[in-house]
Amino acid sequence: MERFFVKGLNNRKKIEGILPVMGAKNAALKAQATSVLFKNEVLLHNMPFIKDVLTTNELLNDLGITTEYIDNRSLKLKPQKNLKKNLDTNIAKKLRSSIVLVGPILAREGEISFPHPGGCIIGQRPIDVFLEAFQKMGAKLEIKNDLYLLRAKKLHGTEIFFKKPSVTATETLMMTAILINGTTILSNCACEPEIAQLAEFLNSAGANIVGAGTHTIIIHGKKQLLNHGVYNVPPDRIEAGSFAAIAALCGKKIKITNCEPDHTKAMIHTLKNLGVDMKIGKNFISINTPQTLKAIEIKTHEYPGFPTDLQAPFSVILTQAKGRSLIFETVFDGRLNYLEDLQRMGANVVVCDPHRAIIQGPTKLRGREMESPDLRAGLAFLIAALVAEGNSIIHNIHNIDRGYEKIEDRLNAVGANIKRI
Ligand code: EPU
Repeated sequence: MERFFVKGLNNRKKIEGILPVMGAKNAALKAQATSVLFKNEVLLHNMPFIKDVLTTNELLNDLGITTEYIDNRSLKLKPQKNLKKNLDTNIAKKLRSSIVLVGPILAREGEISFPHPGGCIIGQRPIDVFLEAFQKMGAKLEIKNDLYLLRAKKLHGTEIFFKKPSVTATETLMMTAILINGTTILSNCACEPEIAQLAEFLNSAGANIVGAGTHTIIIHGKKQLLNHGVYNVPPDRIEAGSFAAIAALCGKKIKITNCEPDHTKAMIHTLKNLGVDMKIGKNFISINTPQTLKAIEIKTHEYPGFPTDLQAPFSVILTQAKGRSLIFETVFDGRLNYLEDLQRMGANVVVCDPHRAIIQGPTKLRGREMESPDLRAGLAFLIAALVAEGNSIIHNIHNIDRGYEKIEDRLNAVGANIKRI
C-alpha cells in the first residue's frame, strides 16, 4: 500500500510557478462510456492518466470494447458488434460512473445486469432516479442476488422528470435516448458544463440533442448506432479549484493554466470573498497568496453553485481564515467526516449535523498520520499537510490517484516536498 510522506511548510508561502490542469475526470469517464453508442472507433484526446480511467478501460474491455493508447493522452476505443450484457461486478463496484454504461447497453443489447455502483463513500448514493427513468422508457426491472437486471425488447421515447438534478443520471439518460426511436424529454436536469460538452461531442458524431446545459434536454433518437467520434476532454474544473486552494494557502505566486475560468465562477467568487487577489485570463488564473484570509460561508450547490467536490479542499482554507466560517454541504449527507482529522491536526471545528460545520480560524495545523477516506477529502489532507508544521503521512492514497494524475510530481515541481513511499 503506497502512502505520501509530506513535509509541512509551517504556513510559509513557498509554492511558486505554473500548475497546468489535466482533462476532467468526470468528463473523461463519461466519454469512455459513449463508446457503447458507436459502431466504429471513438478517439478521446486530453485524457487524464488517472486510476478511474484505467478501471473504466478494464470494465469496457470485459464488455467487448477494445482500448488502445495512441499516446499517453489519446485513447482509442472500439466496440465489437455485440457487447456482453453484464457489468463485471468487481470492477463496476469500484466506480460510481459504471452506472453510466447501463442505459446505453440496455438500449443497444436489450438487456443488462449490474451491481449497485461503487465510488467514493460520501453519503447515500442511490440509483432510484435511473431505475425509475429506465422503467418509464419501457424496461422491466428485477433485483436478484444483489444484482439489478433490466430488460427491454424496445425502449421508447418519453418524458422524464428527475426528482433530483443528478449529474450521472442526466448524462446516462441523454446517452440512452440517442439509441431509442422517438423523442425523449428530460427535465430538472443537472447543468454541469461537462454535460453540455458531452452533448456537443455526441451531436458532432450524429446525435440530435437540444438543450444540454439547461434544465430541459430534448433528444431525438434513432435506433441506430453512431458511426465514429473524436472528443477533446475539457479541463478539470475541480482540479483547477484544488490548485487554487493550494495557491491561496501556500503559494508565493501560482499560475493555474489550461483551465476554463468561465466554468469556475462560484469558486472564483468564493476566493474573492476570502480576500484572495487573482488575475483571470481566458484559460488561466494567477493567484497571489494574501497575508490574511477572511472567514466566509460556503454552501455547496449544483452547478453553477459552489461544487461539492471542492468543499473539503476549501475547508482547509477556512481553518486559516480569520473569524468564524460556516460550511453547508447540501448535495451529499456524508461529506463532512474528514473534518475530524482536521480537528486532530489542530483545526477548531464544530460539526453541527451531517450537513453543517463551523470552523473558527486561524489555527496552526500540526502534521500527523491520517487515512484518505475518499478522493476529495484525500486531496484536502494533502493540502492540510502542506500548510502544517511538521511532517504528515497520508495512507490510502489510491483514493487520491483515482482523480489526480501524479499529484506529488506536479506539486513537487512548484516547491512542495511530497514523497510516495
Ligand atoms: N441522487 C438520488 N438518486 C439517484 C441519483 C442521485 O437521490 O438516483 C442524489 C444523490 O444522493 C445526491 C444528489 O442526488 O444527493 C446528487 O448526486 P448526483 O447523482 O448528481 O452525483 P453523481 O452523479 O453520483 C457526480 C460526480 C461526483 C460529484 C457529483 C455532484 C461523477 C462520476 N461523479 O456524482 O464526483 O460530487 O456528481 O456534482 O460524475 C468526485 O469526483 O469526487 C465526485 C464524487
